[in-house]
Amino acid sequence: MLTVDLDTVRLFVHVLAAAVWVGGQLTLGALLPVLRRAGTDVSRSAARQFGRLAWSAYAVLLVTGVWNMAAYDDTDRSGFAGTISVKLVMVVLSGIAAVVHTRATSRTWLAAGGAGALLFALAAMFLGVVLSG
Ligand code: HEM
Repeated sequence: MLTVDLDTVRLFVHVLAAAVWVGGQLTLGALLPVLRRAGTDVSRSAARQFGRLAWSAYAVLLVTGVWNMAAYDDTDRSGFAGTISVKLVMVVLSGIAAVVHTRATSRTWLAAGGAGALLFALAAMFLGVVLSG
């Protein structure tokens, strides 16, 4: 059996939160046509309930992300600074787009915010894997 230590737990919690933030958006998006057919109230309640879980996951990502940075032992490696900088911009843009989506009063902003939140989160996830590799 390979060793399990605090680093394993740190990365596990970070990846779990990323799975909720990114995977939850993908899943809710896929279920939305069915939920809408069941009624506007149903889709709205589902989105609101998911929002509570998703923002908790986002907060966990920020905390474990800072922890990752503190624990990362190869910050001098070529490309690290650029990769983490772009990743952080993607993280912030994903959060901003999610807020825009939540507060949207028109269909255009609802769609743009939702798409942005997911696409920027996917980019952050991809860059996270690049950092770990
Ligand atoms: C939308 C938000 C985020 C997503 C989706 C995300 C996703 C990921 C993923 C999938 C990994 C790879 C883990 C692995 O391969 O085992 C990772 C690693 C990493 N993340 Fe994040 N992350 C997010 C936010 C953050 C934030 C806010 C920070 C910094 C403040 C951060 C810093 C890091 C670092 C330094 C690593 C490399 C850790 C290591 O290999 O030791 N992440 N991230």
